[in-house]
Amino acid sequence: MSIHALQTLRCPLDGESLHREAACWRCQNGHSFDIAREGYVNLLPVQHKRSRDPGDSKEMVLARRQFLNAGYYQAIADAVAKAVLRDVESGSLCCLDAGSGEGYYLRELARQAPPDIELFLGGLDISKWAVQAAAKQDSTPAWWVASNANIPVQSNSVDRVLCLFGFPVYAEFARVLRPDGVLLMADPGPNHLRQLREVLYPSLRPVSGEMPVCPPGFAELSIESLQHEIVVEGAVAIQQLLGMTPHFFRASADGRKQATALTRLPLTLDVVIRRLRRND
Ligand SMILES: C[S@@+](CC[C@H](N)C(=O)[O-])C[C@H]1O[C@@H](n2cnc3c(N)ncnc32)[C@H](O)[C@@H]1O
Ligand SMILES: [Zn+2]
Repeated sequence: MSIHALQTLRCPLDGESLHREAACWRCQNGHSFDIAREGYVNLLPVQHKRSRDPGDSKEMVLARRQFLNAGYYQAIADAVAKAVLRDVESGSLCCLDAGSGEGYYLRELARQAPPDIELFLGGLDISKWAVQAAAKQDSTPAWWVASNANIPVQSNSVDRVLCLFGFPVYAEFARVLRPDGVLLMADPGPNHLRQLREVLYPSLRPVSGEMPVCPPGFAELSIESLQHEIVVEGAVAIQQLLGMTPHFFRASADGRKQATALTRLPLTLDVVIRRLRRND
Protein backbone atom coordinates (compact mmCIF):
# COMPACT_ATOMS: atom_id res chain seq x y z
CA MET A 1 0.00 0.00 0.00
CA SER A 2 1.24 3.51 -0.71
CA ILE A 3 -0.25 6.80 0.42
CA HIS A 4 0.14 10.11 -1.42
CA ALA A 5 -1.27 13.60 -1.26
CA LEU A 6 -4.19 14.43 -3.55
CA GLN A 7 -2.81 16.98 -6.02
CA THR A 8 -5.74 18.00 -8.26
CA LEU A 9 -6.14 21.46 -6.75
CA ARG A 10 -7.99 24.41 -8.23
CA CYS A 11 -7.91 28.07 -7.35
CA PRO A 12 -10.77 29.06 -5.03
CA LEU A 13 -10.90 32.51 -6.68
CA ASP A 14 -11.24 31.65 -10.39
CA GLY A 15 -11.34 27.84 -10.69
CA GLU A 16 -8.03 27.60 -12.62
CA SER A 17 -5.69 24.68 -11.88
CA LEU A 18 -3.15 25.27 -9.11
CA HIS A 19 0.48 24.25 -9.58
CA ARG A 20 3.04 23.75 -6.86
CA GLU A 21 5.92 26.24 -6.86
CA ALA A 22 8.45 25.91 -4.03
CA ALA A 23 6.55 26.92 -0.86
CA CYS A 24 3.22 27.86 -2.47
CA TRP A 25 0.48 26.80 -4.90
CA ARG A 26 -0.16 29.21 -7.78
CA CYS A 27 -2.69 29.60 -10.63
CA GLN A 28 -2.04 31.07 -14.08
CA ASN A 29 -3.73 34.31 -13.03
CA GLY A 30 -1.14 34.93 -10.36
CA HIS A 31 -3.17 33.96 -7.25
CA SER A 32 -0.88 32.22 -4.83
CA PHE A 33 -1.42 30.32 -1.58
CA ASP A 34 1.39 29.68 0.86
CA ILE A 35 2.12 26.30 2.37
CA ALA A 36 2.08 26.64 6.16
CA ARG A 37 4.89 25.35 8.36
CA GLU A 38 2.79 22.29 9.24
CA GLY A 39 2.29 21.51 5.53
CA TYR A 40 -1.36 22.52 5.01
CA VAL A 41 -2.59 25.23 2.63
CA ASN A 42 -5.16 27.90 3.42
CA LEU A 43 -7.50 28.02 0.41
CA LEU A 44 -10.32 29.91 2.12
CA PRO A 45 -10.22 33.45 0.74
CA VAL A 46 -10.96 36.00 3.44
CA GLN A 47 -13.95 37.29 1.41
CA HIS A 48 -15.51 33.79 1.59
CA LYS A 49 -15.33 33.69 5.38
CA ARG A 50 -18.58 34.26 7.26
CA SER A 51 -16.77 34.83 10.56
CA ARG A 52 -13.25 35.55 11.69
CA ASP A 53 -12.63 32.04 13.02
CA PRO A 54 -15.11 29.73 11.22
CA GLY A 55 -15.81 26.08 12.06
CA ASP A 56 -14.87 24.15 15.16
CA SER A 57 -12.88 26.02 17.81
CA LYS A 58 -9.40 25.09 18.98
CA GLU A 59 -10.91 23.57 22.16
CA MET A 60 -13.42 21.42 20.24
CA VAL A 61 -10.69 20.18 17.91
CA LEU A 62 -8.45 19.22 20.84
CA ALA A 63 -11.31 17.41 22.59
CA ARG A 64 -12.17 15.46 19.39
CA ARG A 65 -8.53 14.63 18.73
CA GLN A 66 -8.04 13.18 22.21
CA PHE A 67 -11.34 11.30 22.29
CA LEU A 68 -10.95 9.77 18.81
CA ASN A 69 -7.31 8.85 19.32
CA ALA A 70 -8.34 6.93 22.45
CA GLY A 71 -10.12 4.55 20.05
CA TYR A 72 -13.73 4.95 21.24
CA TYR A 73 -15.00 5.37 17.64
CA GLN A 74 -12.87 2.54 16.19
CA ALA A 75 -15.99 0.64 15.07
CA ILE A 76 -17.12 3.68 13.08
CA ALA A 77 -13.66 4.13 11.51
CA ASP A 78 -13.61 0.43 10.54
CA ALA A 79 -17.06 0.64 8.92
CA VAL A 80 -16.11 3.85 7.07
CA ALA A 81 -12.83 2.38 5.75
CA LYS A 82 -14.64 -0.79 4.64
CA ALA A 83 -17.33 1.24 2.84
CA VAL A 84 -14.72 3.46 1.12
CA LEU A 85 -12.73 0.45 -0.09
CA ARG A 86 -15.73 -1.69 -1.06
CA ASP A 87 -15.35 -3.15 -4.58
CA VAL A 88 -11.76 -1.83 -4.84
CA GLU A 89 -9.15 -4.59 -5.03
CA SER A 90 -6.21 -2.88 -6.68
CA GLY A 91 -5.16 0.27 -8.52
CA SER A 92 -5.38 3.81 -7.24
CA LEU A 93 -8.15 5.62 -5.42
CA CYS A 94 -8.46 9.39 -4.90
CA CYS A 95 -10.34 10.23 -1.70
CA LEU A 96 -11.41 13.62 -0.39
CA ASP A 97 -12.63 14.02 3.20
CA ALA A 98 -14.91 17.07 3.07
CA GLY A 99 -15.09 18.38 6.64
CA SER A 100 -12.27 16.17 7.85
CA GLY A 101 -11.95 17.62 11.35
CA GLU A 102 -8.57 16.67 12.81
CA GLY A 103 -8.15 13.87 10.26
CA TYR A 104 -8.95 10.73 12.27
CA TYR A 105 -10.90 8.94 9.52
CA LEU A 106 -8.30 9.57 6.78
CA ARG A 107 -5.54 8.34 9.10
CA GLU A 108 -7.55 5.18 9.78
CA LEU A 109 -8.28 4.70 6.07
CA ALA A 110 -4.56 4.95 5.29
CA ARG A 111 -3.79 2.46 8.06
CA GLN A 112 -6.40 -0.07 6.91
CA ALA A 113 -5.90 0.04 3.12
CA PRO A 114 -4.74 -3.29 1.64
CA PRO A 115 -1.26 -3.55 0.08
CA ASP A 116 -2.36 -3.47 -3.58
CA ILE A 117 -4.13 -0.12 -3.34
CA GLU A 118 -2.49 3.24 -3.93
CA LEU A 119 -4.37 5.97 -2.06
CA PHE A 120 -4.33 9.68 -2.91
CA LEU A 121 -5.75 11.48 0.13
CA GLY A 122 -6.91 15.05 0.74
CA GLY A 123 -8.82 16.52 3.66
CA LEU A 124 -10.41 19.92 3.97
CA ASP A 125 -12.09 21.70 6.83
CA ILE A 126 -13.28 25.24 7.36
CA SER A 127 -11.61 25.26 10.80
CA LYS A 128 -7.96 26.24 10.64
CA TRP A 129 -7.44 24.54 14.02
CA ALA A 130 -8.76 21.23 12.69
CA VAL A 131 -6.56 21.35 9.59
CA GLN A 132 -3.50 22.32 11.61
CA ALA A 133 -4.09 19.38 13.98
CA ALA A 134 -4.57 17.01 11.02
CA ALA A 135 -1.36 18.11 9.31
CA LYS A 136 0.62 17.80 12.56
CA GLN A 137 -0.54 14.21 13.09
CA ASP A 138 0.05 12.96 9.54
CA SER A 139 1.71 15.05 6.87
CA THR A 140 1.25 12.52 4.03
CA PRO A 141 -2.28 13.47 2.89
CA ALA A 142 -2.93 16.97 1.55
CA TRP A 143 -4.71 19.20 4.07
CA TRP A 144 -6.54 22.40 3.19
CA VAL A 145 -8.47 25.07 5.04
CA ALA A 146 -11.47 25.40 2.73
CA SER A 147 -15.26 25.22 2.60
CA ASN A 148 -17.56 22.55 1.22
CA ALA A 149 -19.37 25.47 -0.45
CA ASN A 150 -16.36 26.05 -2.75
CA ILE A 151 -14.17 22.93 -2.81
CA PRO A 152 -10.69 23.79 -4.13
CA VAL A 153 -10.45 20.56 -6.12
CA GLN A 154 -10.76 20.12 -9.90
CA SER A 155 -14.04 18.81 -11.33
CA ASN A 156 -14.32 15.05 -12.07
CA SER A 157 -11.10 14.27 -10.23
CA VAL A 158 -11.90 12.15 -7.17
CA ASP A 159 -13.25 8.62 -6.68
CA ARG A 160 -14.61 9.05 -3.15
CA VAL A 161 -15.93 12.00 -1.18
CA LEU A 162 -16.35 11.39 2.54
CA CYS A 163 -18.77 13.54 4.51
CA LEU A 164 -18.69 12.25 8.08
CA PHE A 165 -20.90 13.98 10.66
CA GLY A 166 -20.44 16.97 8.37
CA PHE A 167 -22.16 19.67 6.39
CA PRO A 168 -22.88 18.39 2.88
CA VAL A 169 -22.97 20.59 -0.21
CA TYR A 170 -24.20 18.03 -2.74
CA ALA A 171 -23.69 20.11 -5.88
CA GLU A 172 -20.00 20.54 -5.01
CA PHE A 173 -19.61 16.86 -4.08
CA ALA A 174 -21.13 15.87 -7.46
CA ARG A 175 -18.83 18.32 -9.29
CA VAL A 176 -15.57 16.99 -7.85
CA LEU A 177 -16.51 13.29 -8.14
CA ARG A 178 -15.68 11.31 -11.24
CA PRO A 179 -18.75 10.00 -13.09
CA ASP A 180 -18.62 6.65 -11.28
CA GLY A 181 -17.46 8.22 -8.02
CA VAL A 182 -19.08 7.50 -4.66
CA LEU A 183 -20.14 9.85 -1.87
CA LEU A 184 -19.85 8.23 1.53
CA MET A 185 -21.83 9.76 4.36
CA ALA A 186 -21.95 8.96 8.08
CA ASP A 187 -24.63 10.58 10.21
CA PRO A 188 -25.99 9.98 13.70
CA GLY A 189 -28.88 7.50 13.93
CA PRO A 190 -31.73 7.93 16.43
CA ASN A 191 -29.92 6.21 19.32
CA HIS A 192 -26.51 7.78 18.83
CA LEU A 193 -25.02 8.83 22.21
CA ARG A 194 -28.46 8.26 23.78
CA GLN A 195 -27.15 7.79 27.34
CA LEU A 196 -25.20 11.07 27.18
CA ARG A 197 -28.27 12.91 25.87
CA GLU A 198 -30.39 11.38 28.67
CA VAL A 199 -28.07 12.99 31.21
CA LEU A 200 -27.93 16.33 29.40
CA TYR A 201 -31.58 16.96 28.53
CA PRO A 202 -34.75 16.70 30.68
CA SER A 203 -36.47 14.74 27.88
CA LEU A 204 -35.38 13.38 24.50
CA ARG A 205 -37.12 14.29 21.26
CA PRO A 206 -39.18 11.40 19.82
CA VAL A 207 -37.39 9.35 17.19
CA SER A 208 -38.74 9.95 13.67
CA GLY A 209 -37.62 6.62 12.20
CA GLU A 210 -37.56 8.17 8.71
CA MET A 211 -34.78 7.16 6.35
CA PRO A 212 -32.76 10.01 4.83
CA VAL A 213 -33.83 11.12 1.35
CA CYS A 214 -31.40 10.53 -1.54
CA PRO A 215 -29.99 13.94 -2.51
CA PRO A 216 -30.33 15.29 -6.06
CA GLY A 217 -27.51 14.25 -8.38
CA PHE A 218 -26.96 10.92 -6.61
CA ALA A 219 -28.33 7.36 -6.62
CA GLU A 220 -28.28 5.33 -3.42
CA LEU A 221 -26.00 2.28 -3.53
CA SER A 222 -26.34 1.14 0.07
CA ILE A 223 -27.49 2.20 3.49
CA GLU A 224 -26.31 0.52 6.67
CA SER A 225 -27.02 1.13 10.32
CA LEU A 226 -24.05 0.55 12.62
CA GLN A 227 -24.97 -0.19 16.24
CA HIS A 228 -22.17 -0.59 18.74
CA GLU A 229 -21.91 -0.38 22.52
CA ILE A 230 -18.90 1.19 24.22
CA VAL A 231 -18.01 2.29 27.75
CA VAL A 232 -16.35 5.67 28.17
CA GLU A 233 -14.04 5.47 31.17
CA GLY A 234 -13.16 8.48 33.33
CA ALA A 235 -14.38 12.05 33.72
CA VAL A 236 -11.72 13.40 31.34
CA ALA A 237 -12.85 11.26 28.39
CA ILE A 238 -16.51 12.07 29.11
CA GLN A 239 -15.68 15.79 29.04
CA GLN A 240 -13.79 15.34 25.75
CA LEU A 241 -16.84 13.61 24.25
CA LEU A 242 -19.07 16.43 25.45
CA GLY A 243 -16.61 19.01 24.14
CA MET A 244 -16.55 17.57 20.62
CA THR A 245 -20.33 17.43 20.14
CA PRO A 246 -22.89 20.21 19.64
CA HIS A 247 -24.53 19.04 22.88
CA PHE A 248 -21.99 21.07 24.82
CA PHE A 249 -23.65 24.27 23.53
CA ARG A 250 -27.23 22.99 23.43
CA ALA A 251 -27.48 21.51 26.93
CA SER A 252 -28.54 23.54 29.96
CA ALA A 253 -26.04 24.45 32.66
CA ASP A 254 -27.75 21.89 34.91
CA GLY A 255 -27.40 19.15 32.27
CA ARG A 256 -23.73 19.94 31.80
CA LYS A 257 -23.20 19.85 35.58
CA GLN A 258 -24.70 16.35 35.77
CA ALA A 259 -22.47 15.18 32.93
CA THR A 260 -19.42 16.63 34.68
CA ALA A 261 -20.13 14.40 37.70
CA LEU A 262 -19.92 11.19 35.65
CA THR A 263 -16.85 8.95 35.79
CA ARG A 264 -18.10 6.06 33.64
CA LEU A 265 -20.60 6.11 30.80
CA PRO A 266 -21.95 3.09 28.87
CA LEU A 267 -22.81 4.51 25.47
CA THR A 268 -24.59 3.47 22.29
CA LEU A 269 -23.03 4.37 18.94
CA ASP A 270 -25.72 4.42 16.26
CA VAL A 271 -24.49 5.61 12.89
CA VAL A 272 -26.14 5.54 9.47
CA ILE A 273 -23.58 4.94 6.72
CA ARG A 274 -24.70 5.62 3.16
CA ARG A 275 -22.96 5.10 -0.18
CA LEU A 276 -24.33 7.30 -2.99
CA ARG A 277 -23.16 7.09 -6.58
CA ARG A 278 -22.84 10.24 -8.66
CA ASN A 279 -25.66 10.25 -11.22
CA ASP A 280 -24.94 11.52 -14.69
C1 LIG B 1 -18.88 17.28 13.74
S1 LIG B 1 -17.34 17.77 13.02
C2 LIG B 1 -16.85 16.28 12.20
C3 LIG B 1 -15.38 16.24 11.85
C4 LIG B 1 -14.88 14.91 11.26
N1 LIG B 1 -15.56 14.58 10.03
C5 LIG B 1 -15.05 13.82 12.28
O1 LIG B 1 -16.07 13.12 12.22
O2 LIG B 1 -14.17 13.65 13.16
C6 LIG B 1 -17.83 18.85 11.70
C7 LIG B 1 -16.66 19.52 11.01
O3 LIG B 1 -17.16 20.29 9.90
C8 LIG B 1 -16.41 21.48 9.82
N2 LIG B 1 -17.19 22.43 8.99
C9 LIG B 1 -18.24 23.21 9.34
N3 LIG B 1 -18.71 23.89 8.27
C10 LIG B 1 -17.94 23.51 7.21
C11 LIG B 1 -17.92 23.86 5.83
N4 LIG B 1 -18.80 24.72 5.31
N5 LIG B 1 -16.99 23.31 5.03
C12 LIG B 1 -16.09 22.42 5.53
N6 LIG B 1 -16.05 22.06 6.83
C13 LIG B 1 -16.97 22.58 7.66
C14 LIG B 1 -16.17 21.88 11.26
O4 LIG B 1 -15.09 22.78 11.41
C15 LIG B 1 -15.90 20.51 11.89
O5 LIG B 1 -14.52 20.18 11.87
ZN1 LIG C 1 -6.59 32.00 -9.46
